[in-house]
Amino acid sequence: MANQRAGILGTGHAYPEGILTNADLAELVETSDEWITTRTGIKQRRKAAPGEYTSMFAVRAAQKAIERARIDPSDIDLLLCATVTPDQILPSTGCIIQAELGANNAAAMDVVAACSGFLYGVALANSMIQNGQAKYALVIGSEILTQYVDYTDRQTCVLFGDGAGAAVLGPVEGNKGILGAKIKSDGRYEEQLYSPGGGTRRKPTAETLAAGDHFFKMKGNELFKVAVRSMAEISRDVLENAGLTTADIDIFIPHQANQRITEAVADRLNVDISKVYSNIAVHGNTSSASIPIALDECVSSGRIKEGDLVMMTSFGGGVTWGGVLVRW
Ligand code: ACO
Repeated sequence: MANQRAGILGTGHAYPEGILTNADLAELVETSDEWITTRTGIKQRRKAAPGEYTSMFAVRAAQKAIERARIDPSDIDLLLCATVTPDQILPSTGCIIQAELGANNAAAMDVVAACSGFLYGVALANSMIQNGQAKYALVIGSEILTQYVDYTDRQTCVLFGDGAGAAVLGPVEGNKGILGAKIKSDGRYEEQLYSPGGGTRRKPTAETLAAGDHFFKMKGNELFKVAVRSMAEISRDVLENAGLTTADIDIFIPHQANQRITEAVADRLNVDISKVYSNIAVHGNTSSASIPIALDECVSSGRIKEGDLVMMTSFGGGVTWGGVLVRW
């Protein structure tokens, strides 16, 4: 069936029990709770224990989303796991999750688009549902970033945390559902946020590990400006294409990278801060997991109500960015 409208039928999230506070970080690098709070808004982040890995939290988040969508795992046609911290290189984390869930009829794969991965997945799943290639899709964002953070680099180690969020997409009728989705990237900004080691360019050896090539490297203040500009522009584009304006937004969920970025984007879009969701204080930046965790918190707490217009926007390494607009 062509032009079937897709909507979000169920959401879920999960995260490790371990907590890393600003005070804990101040014991590792020269920083302070005051600096981290005022520059980022972050007070704590979740940290996986040794032996915990990305698909574990993805499966827990997905099981909640599937239950709330009232479908069976075997109904899922498409399973996308957005992650930059996969369980292993082969097979995809998506396939590992598929087996754990018993989603045996799905095509499963990973989406590598850093913090935009979840919205990339939603945009792709939306297209496949719209054109009839899939009925139900499971989109997950899951990361164990704390294993790829250099705890001697105070610029990056204070930002990142671990967790997973998931959403089941499927057919909806009437005015509800995904009203617009747009994703973009610009590979010329590769070196603003990257992890050079571990692939074929710089394969893992004792030397590359000792040099910390597998850790995230970031040019924070350059990214800051591109992030604000890109998320504001794409949100406006998606709204305009749907014949709506920023005044119509009921809940704005930006990628949780930095509270100052969130406020700057809201300011550019003229969205009142009361409509902006933020959980950065407790989760930090969980990359692809940040938007689905936030979305599930909003749904579970009743902050998103039926009929609400929800605008989600993301920005991440690549660089990548995206916007998805949903009538709940
Ligand atoms: N504690 C104390 N001081 C610090 C710390 C720290 N943790 N980190 C940096 N500083 C110092 C710097 O060394 C610098 O000192 P100097 O003035 O003596 O040179 C000073 O603080 C200011 O540094 P800036 O980098 O200019 O600080 P800024 O206000 O830009 O904040 C931050 C840095 C938080 C990284 C910010 O730039 C940011 O959030 N950037 C965007 C991150 C982002 O969006 N990433 C993309 C998404 S993530 C993804 O894709 C996985």
